[in-house]
Amino acid sequence: MTVPFLDLRVTDDEERAELIAAVEAVLRHGRIMLGPEVAEIERRVADYIGLKYAAGVGSGTDALLLAFRALGIGPGDEVITTPLSFIATANAIRLNGAMPVFADIDDDLQLDPATIESLITPKTRAIVPVHWSGKVCRMEEIMAIADLRGLLVVEDCSQAFGASRHGHKAGTWGKVGCYSMNSMKAFASLGEAGMILTDDPELRAKIEALRYNGLINREFCHYVSHNGRLDTVQAAMMLKRLDRYERVLAAREETARFYDAHLSDVVRVPRREAGCRDVAYTYQIQTDRRDELQSHLTAQGIETKVQHNPLMPHQPAYQDCRSACPNADRLIKRTLCLPVSEKVTSAQREAVVAALRGFFGR
Ligand SMILES: Cc1ncc(COP(=O)(O)O)c(C=O)c1O
Repeated sequence: MTVPFLDLRVTDDEERAELIAAVEAVLRHGRIMLGPEVAEIERRVADYIGLKYAAGVGSGTDALLLAFRALGIGPGDEVITTPLSFIATANAIRLNGAMPVFADIDDDLQLDPATIESLITPKTRAIVPVHWSGKVCRMEEIMAIADLRGLLVVEDCSQAFGASRHGHKAGTWGKVGCYSMNSMKAFASLGEAGMILTDDPELRAKIEALRYNGLINREFCHYVSHNGRLDTVQAAMMLKRLDRYERVLAAREETARFYDAHLSDVVRVPRREAGCRDVAYTYQIQTDRRDELQSHLTAQGIETKVQHNPLMPHQPAYQDCRSACPNADRLIKRTLCLPVSEKVTSAQREAVVAALRGFFGR
């Protein structure tokens, strides 16, 4: 049996019909750019996360880029973040002229608060936790450091839409939450999309200008920026996707729980904490025999991924940045993402478990 890591086709007939109807409605009303669906998805997402304002943007990269720009993070500033993320997190810092500084991760693969303090200098402006793999970082500790040292916190929630920790959703801890809603995400558009969420009305107004060439009232350019608006057709489809989101999460959770139950004696499975809701964006196991295991699973038709190697500080473009991440260096050799999308069937997850246990002779 083959088990793809992801299948981006829309295979549910009912969902396909809903999406086509949503696009058709946009084609009919013709308010194609920043149409009413953009305002509606912004309101719905803000309500879902529990913040006052959401601004739809072109991608998760745009969300981060524009959030840092709106906060005035730029040349001469340092931003402390995790070494383990998609490179967009670092690029967004760097594109504003600031320098990322890479701290380390804990054994749950999250930015480790204990590794932040020693990297703070007079240049440090912000901390960027990335809620990796759908789990919220240890935000109480990160916020305590930020508050004590007067630092901004920008959360990269791209992999954790709807995840929460002790009653607080990802994106609600810091000054601003940034989200990618590209097609590979759990809450996915049908292409590229992103959002910035905040409770701060001034920041929201500035982001609104920044996402369209820094214009206020469509005429006066107050800030140098680019076009990073959310597309109305995407917004229309995202409204339909949001209606289905809890079902998507439930299906992913079922597979994750199945793996928890059947794999924890052979590999390290993601740790669950009381009072936390993780969303199964990826399901990352840890084992010393990662490369051999991946080859074995590939030979059995099971597609897996290593996310993301090289670590950001080891990317060629980031050789001039400070980093101190021995634990990430160790863990990136051990982690492997198993298929956990909502399309994984019970037969497929059983095949994954059988192949994996077979590899360990168990
Ligand atoms: C943690 C993280 N940050 C940022 C991004 C960038 O998002 P996008 O691809 O929508 O620009 C992604 C996704 O690709 C991501 O996973």
